[in-house]
Amino acid sequence: MKVLGIETSCDETGVAVYDTEAGLLGQSLHSQIDLHAVYGGVVPELASRDHIRRLPILVRQALAEAGLDIGAMDAIAYTAGPGLAGALLVGASVAESMAMAAGIPALPVHHLEGHLLSPLLAADPPDFPFVALLVSGGHTQLMAVTGVGAYTLLGESLDDAAGEAFDKTAKLIGLGYPGGPQLAALALQGTTGRFKLPRPMLHSGDLDFSFSGLKTAVLNVVSGPGWQAEWAADLAADFQQAVVEVLTAKSLAALKQTGLKSLVVAGGVGANVQLRAGLDSATRRRGARVYYPEPALCTDNGAMIAFAGALRLAGGARPEQAPGVRIRPRW
Ligand code: KG4
Ligand code: ZN
Repeated sequence: MKVLGIETSCDETGVAVYDTEAGLLGQSLHSQIDLHAVYGGVVPELASRDHIRRLPILVRQALAEAGLDIGAMDAIAYTAGPGLAGALLVGASVAESMAMAAGIPALPVHHLEGHLLSPLLAADPPDFPFVALLVSGGHTQLMAVTGVGAYTLLGESLDDAAGEAFDKTAKLIGLGYPGGPQLAALALQGTTGRFKLPRPMLHSGDLDFSFSGLKTAVLNVVSGPGWQAEWAADLAADFQQAVVEVLTAKSLAALKQTGLKSLVVAGGVGANVQLRAGLDSATRRRGARVYYPEPALCTDNGAMIAFAGALRLAGGARPEQAPGVRIRPRW
């Protein structure tokens, strides 16, 4: 089965062709980082307009790379949510229209399911069941995954997502957008230990998270008396260490609670080198193992949507027959 996947939930336009026999056949991606950078964050209306401009070109590119025509596709999967409503509408409209024209089904896909399953596209994929740590700009969740579509939420952030905390803290320190990767890069030049930042909910006894207090602690440091700009790298390092410590401790607790030995990490923050080092060493000491998506598939992309759609269809999912543009921004 060949599935065309379309991702437009935020500031990346991604398209890919996935074949259940041959794997990923074609991929195209455009990041809107430059478009939004001057505003310090994603401007939803600009995002939607850019998706409209890019999508037809990217669809042609992905199909050309696969050496296939739209007529060779068995279905089109698209991100239906969660995400920015206008941005989602672009991908959904294009996917549903092309599917209608080609006489094939269109399948709405949950963006987080795309992230969650993306490590299965790696060369050495994990087997079910596993614990998944989803750390993106909008979500921080721990889940027990026993199969495609069989997800049990174990815990989640009660306020800011981990990526959101990275982005907001980066802004406080004076870094540009997107803040997460920039803060991580700055932290590499810093030394930990100068600032005593909290580890929110580390000992809460459950698998939930909270990151807004950590961001406030950083605000208090940078707006307090005696703050010196040359400490920014140290502050970035201390912030990153606090986030990594909490994410690592709760992931281990989730493995212990479920009795599982595999941890899958997905979402943009999963690209963080310090988090990977922390998780790798902590799980190794307990005889467990961590799996990551290929680096290029950590952030938003079309491949994970094509893949999730294909697995859903292979598992017997029945796309709705009635034509319609289905988006769920708060899914
Ligand atoms: O999964 P993703 O691409 O989009 C969402 O679905 O949200 O994740 C984006 C988030 C942003 O908050 C970004 O700052 C963060 O992932 N991020 C990072 C790193 N790379 C991306 N955070 C920390 N360290 C990184 N290296
Ligand atoms: Zn995402």
